[in-house]
Amino acid sequence: MSWTNKHLLGLEGVGRDEILTVLDTAAKFREVLDRPVKKVPTLRGVTIVNLFFEASTRTRMSFELAEKRLSADTLNFSASTSSVKKGETLRDTARNIEAMMVDMAVIRHSSPGAPHFLTQHLDVSIINAGDGAHEHPTQALLDLFTMRDHIGDLAGKRVTIVGDIVHSRVAKSDAWGLAALGADVTFCGPTTFMPAEVERLGVTVTSDIHEATHDADVVNILRIQKERQEGGFLPSLREYTRLFGIDQARLAEMRPDVLIMHPGPINRGVELAPDVADGERSVILDQVTNGVAVRMAIIYLLSRVRAQERIEEPEILAEVGL
Ligand code: CP
Repeated sequence: MSWTNKHLLGLEGVGRDEILTVLDTAAKFREVLDRPVKKVPTLRGVTIVNLFFEASTRTRMSFELAEKRLSADTLNFSASTSSVKKGETLRDTARNIEAMMVDMAVIRHSSPGAPHFLTQHLDVSIINAGDGAHEHPTQALLDLFTMRDHIGDLAGKRVTIVGDIVHSRVAKSDAWGLAALGADVTFCGPTTFMPAEVERLGVTVTSDIHEATHDADVVNILRIQKERQEGGFLPSLREYTRLFGIDQARLAEMRPDVLIMHPGPINRGVELAPDVADGERSVILDQVTNGVAVRMAIIYLLSRVRAQERIEEPEILAEVGL
């Protein structure tokens, strides 16, 4: 076990051994999910709050289910039905919830760095469930798990990520995680969709969809974030679909064993044709299933670190004579 972090804020700086620890732990929990009784008593007495300041279907339900499968107590917070509507700040909201003696907080927020901010004001373990366009580490870990499950060791494998990369936290977390496992990553899309820091990610960049996908082991397609296109990133959605959309004709130019992935939610008929999304090369629903096991693994590993800290506390107090 080489996981020693108290928080999961991103995959930047997380090493190969740590990622493999998460994936190997998730593989054990994935087996639990296939049992008739899909629950273990591991985290009885641990309380976890899910703080969602932004919309979510998959991540939110997956975290809640992972917590329940581990027998933790779960609290769900939705900004739209909370005192945030009366002007309460993120810090006050989080500190009030911490005062109810929670052990861990999962946070999704539209501001990059919101999870990091909470680590400075709370004593609980923090998991980033997506912060603006910065990172979405558990999505990347479930992507890595799904890829490894289908094609084995990712070292030297070619993974192409197509689409709205500039707005995508998934693309960045995927790139960090894939690099740590030795995969070759290509970003493909219009040049207006490439983030300023793309060189830092160590990926190949191209606007040629055929070049990017014809020999890829995995093609991960991103949602066009329609709500964030007002900056003139795209001439039109129809133009994007014609140039970069993945349909049967484009799939036919790829390897016959290519994996088609998408983090969801899908704009059907925009970045991905419905018959490809639902077709035999698609592992999109496997990603969702695996997400529960991966989140169980992360929650379990962070809880272990927290428990170890607590066990060490009496020794520290004895050392200082208390
Ligand atoms: N993939 C993902 O983060 O989906 P949600 O926004 O539904 O959580």
